[in-house]
Amino acid sequence: MRVAPPGAGNNQAPQIEGVPRHVAIIMDGNGRWANARGLARTEGHRAGEVALMDTIAGALEIGVEHLTVYAFSTENWKRSPKEVSFLMGYSRDVLRRRRDELNEWGVAIHWWGRRPRLWKSVITELEAAQELTKANSKLHFNMAVNYGGRAEIADAVRQIANEVEAGKLKPTGITEDTVIRRLYAPSSPDVDLLIRTGGEQRISNFLLWQCAYAEFAFNPMPWPEYCREELWNDVLTFTGRERRFGSAVDRVEC
Ligand code: FPP
Repeated sequence: MRVAPPGAGNNQAPQIEGVPRHVAIIMDGNGRWANARGLARTEGHRAGEVALMDTIAGALEIGVEHLTVYAFSTENWKRSPKEVSFLMGYSRDVLRRRRDELNEWGVAIHWWGRRPRLWKSVITELEAAQELTKANSKLHFNMAVNYGGRAEIADAVRQIANEVEAGKLKPTGITEDTVIRRLYAPSSPDVDLLIRTGGEQRISNFLLWQCAYAEFAFNPMPWPEYCREELWNDVLTFTGRERRFGSAVDRVEC
C-alpha cells in the first residue's frame, strides 16, 4: 500500500520547537490488534508496515534525525515457529519492497543486532539496504533485528575483555566512552524519546544503554493504527517535559 511521501500528506506537519534528535519506537500491540479482529497475530504484523512507513514520513517532516525501531528482539525467538518465520520473512520482504522508496526520501537504513541465528536472507537484505542508502543523511533509520540491549552491552564487554587480554587496553583506562565506542552504532546519539505503542509500560530490553536519559511516551494505540499524526502528538508532549539529566534547580528562594 502506498504511503503519502514526506511533504505530500493531507495534514500539514506542525512546526515543532525542540524536536527530539533520536526517537526510538517499540511497535507493540500487533498481535492483540489482530486477535481482537478474529485474525491471526501475523496479520497484525502485516498491518504494521504501513504504520511504519507513515511514521518514517512523519519523522522526516518534523526533522527527527535518528529513528530506531524494534523489529525483532533476541527474546522473540521464543515465539511460535510460525510467528518467527513470518517475522523473518516479513522483515526481509518489507526491506526489499520499501528500500527504493526510503532511498528516494533520503533515508539511510542501518541494521542494529546480532548475526548468529538471524536468517541469512534477512542479513542479505539488511546489508543491501544499508549499501543502497549509505549516502543519505536526512534521517538515519535503524532497524533493530535480532537485537537485545543486554546482548549489545555483553558484546561490547566481550570485545573490551579481548582487547585487555591482548594488551591493547588497560582496565584502568576503561570509561563510559570505551563502552560507547563498542556499541552497534557508536556515533548515534542517545535516545531522547522512547515511544511504546499498545498500552504496555516497559522497556523490554530495548536500547538499555542509549535510553539512560530518554523520556518515555506510552501510547495506548496498537501499532497497526499508529501514524504520523500520533508521532507528532507524542513529540509535542515530549517538548513540554523538563529534562534535567541528573541536575536540579531550587524553585524557591532559600
Ligand atoms: C510487537 O507486537 C511487534 C513485533 C515483535 C514485530 C514488529 C514488526 C512489525 C511492525 C512488522 C513491520 C515492520 C518491520 C520492521 C518489518 P506484539 O506481537 O508483541 O503484539 P502483542 O503485544 O499484541 O502481542
